[in-house]
Amino acid sequence: MKIYRAKDYEDLSRKAANIISSKVILKPDCVLGLATGSTPIGTYKNLIQSYENGDLDFSDVTSVNLDEYKGLGPDHDQSYRYFMNHNLFDHINIDKARTFVPDGLEADSDKACQAYNDIIAGCGGIDLQLLGLGHNGHIGFNEPSDEFEKETHCVDLTESTIDANKRFFASEADVPRQAYTMGIKTIMQARKVLVVVSGSDKADILAKVVNGPVTPAVPASILQMHNDVIIVADEAALSKM
Ligand code: GLP
Repeated sequence: MKIYRAKDYEDLSRKAANIISSKVILKPDCVLGLATGSTPIGTYKNLIQSYENGDLDFSDVTSVNLDEYKGLGPDHDQSYRYFMNHNLFDHINIDKARTFVPDGLEADSDKACQAYNDIIAGCGGIDLQLLGLGHNGHIGFNEPSDEFEKETHCVDLTESTIDANKRFFASEADVPRQAYTMGIKTIMQARKVLVVVSGSDKADILAKVVNGPVTPAVPASILQMHNDVIIVADEAALSKM
């Protein structure tokens, strides 16, 4: 694992965007694995700026997102499809038909997950996977458990995740209890993984992810086994290392 130390959130966002930009420049038809959450928002802002400056062309890029709440459709302002449209896709020249997010409105979990696995396989694999980090070590919505789930699956969100995400909803009762998420095997098969981590509230879990044992109790710890992982973290997030 390579760790890039950023001064603060702005610096982190610029560094992460530069890594993604270099992928898009070197491989214009790359497949980007994208993430939601508050941490990548600054990264997306920097990518939009580079696009507006004429430095980036997304017209041949394909994207696959990590996850989606089960039950939320593209028009729900807390769905991850909505998030991606508003924070990135609506502002760059990516072909929306080649931006994929699990179908939150598909009530049949097996069908939704199989369809998403087929989409990822059809893309030929992920060149660069961007990840945020949950407070309990989750990546995508791969929550702590007894085993690593391989491919796209439906998860019951943990209380800590529901609690962390309730700030985005009118009330805790409105936070969906389930989500579809890409699995750990799929994430591990990405050719390159970029993790963005910001803030002192992530310091304890980041130390466990990097220096602790590899265990499904801390899902992101599996990244220790990947041969091309870059963690871009700010000083606050690195304070317990
Ligand atoms: C959500 C997402 C994750 C994300 C995590 C952390 O649970 N499913 O992909 O990494 O939140 O979000 P934040 O960056 O807001 O701390």
